[in-house]
Amino acid sequence: MNRVSGKAAVVTGGALGIGRASAIRLAEEGAVVAVLDIDDNAGKAVAAEIKSVGGQADYWHVDVTDEEAIRQCYDEVAERFGGLHVLVNNAGIAGVNKPTDEVTREEWEALFNINVTGVFLCTKHAIGHMRKAGSGSIVNLSSIYGLIGAADLPPYHASKGAVRLMSKNDALFYATENIRVNSIHPAYIWTPLVEDLGKQHPDGVEAFRKLLDEKHPIGHVGEPDDIAWGVVYLASDESKFVTGSELVIDGGYTAQ
Ligand SMILES: NC(=O)c1ccc[n+]([C@@H]2O[C@H](COP(=O)([O-])OP(=O)(O)OC[C@H]3O[C@@H](n4cnc5c(N)ncnc54)[C@H](O)[C@@H]3O)[C@@H](O)[C@H]2O)c1
Repeated sequence: MNRVSGKAAVVTGGALGIGRASAIRLAEEGAVVAVLDIDDNAGKAVAAEIKSVGGQADYWHVDVTDEEAIRQCYDEVAERFGGLHVLVNNAGIAGVNKPTDEVTREEWEALFNINVTGVFLCTKHAIGHMRKAGSGSIVNLSSIYGLIGAADLPPYHASKGAVRLMSKNDALFYATENIRVNSIHPAYIWTPLVEDLGKQHPDGVEAFRKLLDEKHPIGHVGEPDDIAWGVVYLASDESKFVTGSELVIDGGYTAQ
């Protein structure tokens, strides 16, 4: 129940999917949670849901590409919550699904802005707060597609590979300051992001889900909580010796 009590956690993209589940589980385990997103209705609903069961949370409208908004939000979080100890860099988009030779520079850069520059900016401004607190944990959402390739979503895969190595670099930079940085590598998790990919499938969402289920040795896609519990572990002091590591949560996908 109190695996992360006493910690203030920022979850980017906390309104839906994996971010929402992570925010809820962190709060359940005692953290004070700042939900950051651009979907105000869904983000406010997550904070309200946490409060309705006795947890502590607030919502901030923050686009992870907006450096000034990030900086200002963190200052408010630290002031209101007594510090900033955990950052979950979760906000991300799937981007365009077409072969590399058809991707425009604008499409490539739009995705990199969110999935890579967003992680950079959110990390950059969290470090000072964590330093002040004397410790910190940064959890970056990469993907199995930061580990292996597939013939789809080229900008997305490249971005998740970048996030994997940004995590290791930062783990090394800040290890002596007790600021840990790790990446999580989910396979397919049934969230609005994946459901939207299903809507583009010629045979429809259910056929797409069945196809995905079959790709996972465990027989089905994952659910947001499968990742949220990994987030809680990496955010908590249970993982105090874990930094620069890759937590693969994939139903056996990459074991094949
Ligand atoms: N779902 C999966 O199968 C899967 C697998 C591997 C990795 N991931 C990664 O996990 C993370 C979450 O994925 P999800 O499936 O829950 O996605 P989702 O689309 O269901 O939710 C993403 C959230 O991020 C928010 N967001 C998007 N752009 C933003 C921005 N610029 N600033 C702030 N918030 C923004 C959205 O509003 C939304 O609330 C992503 O980084 C994704 O790449 C997901």
